[in-house]
Amino acid sequence: MTFAERLEADIAVIEPALEKYLSRETGEGYDRIFEAAKYSAMAGGKRLRPVIVLAFCRLCGGDAQKALPFACALEMIHTYSLIHDDLPCMDNDDLRRGRPTCHKAFDEATAVLAGDGLLTAAFETAASAEGLPPEIVLACIRILGQAAGMNGMIGGQVLDMGAEHRKISLDELRLLQSLKTGCLLRAACELGCVAAGKNDAQTLEMARTFGDKLGLAFQIRDDMLDIEGDTATLGKTVGKDEKSEKSTFPSLLGMEECRRLVATLTDEAVQAISGRPESAFLVELARSLTNRTN
Ligand code: IPE
Ligand code: IPE
Ligand code: MG
Ligand code: MG
Ligand code: MG
Repeated sequence: MTFAERLEADIAVIEPALEKYLSRETGEGYDRIFEAAKYSAMAGGKRLRPVIVLAFCRLCGGDAQKALPFACALEMIHTYSLIHDDLPCMDNDDLRRGRPTCHKAFDEATAVLAGDGLLTAAFETAASAEGLPPEIVLACIRILGQAAGMNGMIGGQVLDMGAEHRKISLDELRLLQSLKTGCLLRAACELGCVAAGKNDAQTLEMARTFGDKLGLAFQIRDDMLDIEGDTATLGKTVGKDEKSEKSTFPSLLGMEECRRLVATLTDEAVQAISGRPESAFLVELARSLTNRTN
């Protein structure tokens, strides 16, 4: 299978599974919340995090199908983080994944609740994983909780809110990004390994290094796309970081240094997994993200 075929095949498994988990309508008066959650979740994101979960599971010799609930759980958490990130009290964005943001398509209260619903559904989904020893399921739930929580993505979002209308140091920015974006990407790598039954220190170190390097490269590219991207291709409004005077990698380092850093970090991520059988897909995935346009 080529890289493109593998990617397409994985997404073709992830998307229906995700939709199925989010299709528990009851016919009662609150089904609008499922509609809102699915509106954002099924809007065609890149599915990078769940794809990485499956790829790391294969890299560790596991059955990717068994990692699917954790992959979907992580995508639910990611989608919730985007819905809340777009709210007027946060980044105040109108466009996401090429559609009006959840609070624009519905209303603010529904968007808050859709995010809450997705976060909660993620843990229900992970806890419902079948065919794995309970200690593995528990370890995966802990990884999800730590990555999404206050010492993880939430902490990063708090720092991010404090990076508006002021210039922060590069060290502060590195911490901010490693929490807000790095944690969920690192969790994707770890979840794949643990679901495959590989939780030895060396394997986890390899997964974390790949996740850290890729996560940093990914956020630098995200910041660059806010400047040089095209709204229609990106599916979100460009120029928002500058408008809110947000400290970002380009604002601190300039575009050329960012471009160089993305290349170096991607090489380092690739280095962390090279030599392993089954690493080809992840290597191509990492490389394909360096000049992504969405
Ligand atoms: C956007 O993530 C938010 C960041 C962490 C930079 P993605 O670029 O992965 O968004 P989708 O899932 O493809 O919409
Ligand atoms: C969002 O970072 C990170 C999370 C949602 C945790 P950004 O605010 O830079 O993401 P975009 O650019 O809106 O996708
Ligand atoms: Mg933000
Ligand atoms: Mg944002
Ligand atoms: Mg951004």
